[in-house]
Amino acid sequence: MLRVLPATIVDLDALESLEMQVFDHDRFSRRQFRHLLTKAHGITLKAQKQNNIIGYMTLLTRTCNHTMKIHSLAVDKNSQKCGVGTLLLRQAEQVAADYERTSLKLEVSEDNPIACRLYLSHGYTLQGRRPHYYQNGSAALIMKKNLANLEHQP
Ligand SMILES: CC(C)(COP(=O)(O)OP(=O)(O)OC[C@H]1O[C@@H](n2cnc3c(N)ncnc32)[C@H](O)[C@@H]1OP(=O)(O)O)[C@@H](O)C(=O)NCCC(=O)NCCS
Repeated sequence: MLRVLPATIVDLDALESLEMQVFDHDRFSRRQFRHLLTKAHGITLKAQKQNNIIGYMTLLTRTCNHTMKIHSLAVDKNSQKCGVGTLLLRQAEQVAADYERTSLKLEVSEDNPIACRLYLSHGYTLQGRRPHYYQNGSAALIMKKNLANLEHQP
């Protein structure tokens, strides 16, 4: 059964190895994960199947009063295209609503068409572009979704 749960420090090893498997550059280090899981103003969600973490999303709350930032989203290569990314993205909206935020924002690499399509198909709109943002020199697209009409779900 697939479940989305808050990640904790006990998930550090699993998150680190997922990060290594999924990203070629701009990875979170172990130290960054430790900070995200223990000190950062935010929440890390894990998608867990049986006892395996097959995806995660980090959300930062300390942006401004109205917005929450999706800092990272990744799904294990063997579990992609099965709806896990979509599930995490939906859950992000619920977390934002719980924190009484009215929008979600994120940055995504211009050369990541799969992720760009995912966000656009979920109602995110292009707000801007940051050239040479990532370690491989690619630009970041800034996207935002307004959640004002999101009903609070039980
Ligand atoms: C982007 C990512 C999180 C999507 O996760 P996922 O679990 O595969 O997403 P889903 O299964 O919910 O699929 C979402 C859509 O993307 C499509 N998709 C996913 N992987 C795809 C692939 N390899 N090729 C083509 N389309 C793909 C799905 O078909 C689906 O489209 P649909 O809604 O029209 O059917 C995942 O590909 C990933 O971890 N990529 C590497 C890390 C990354 O790029 N993170 C985003 C950083 S901003």
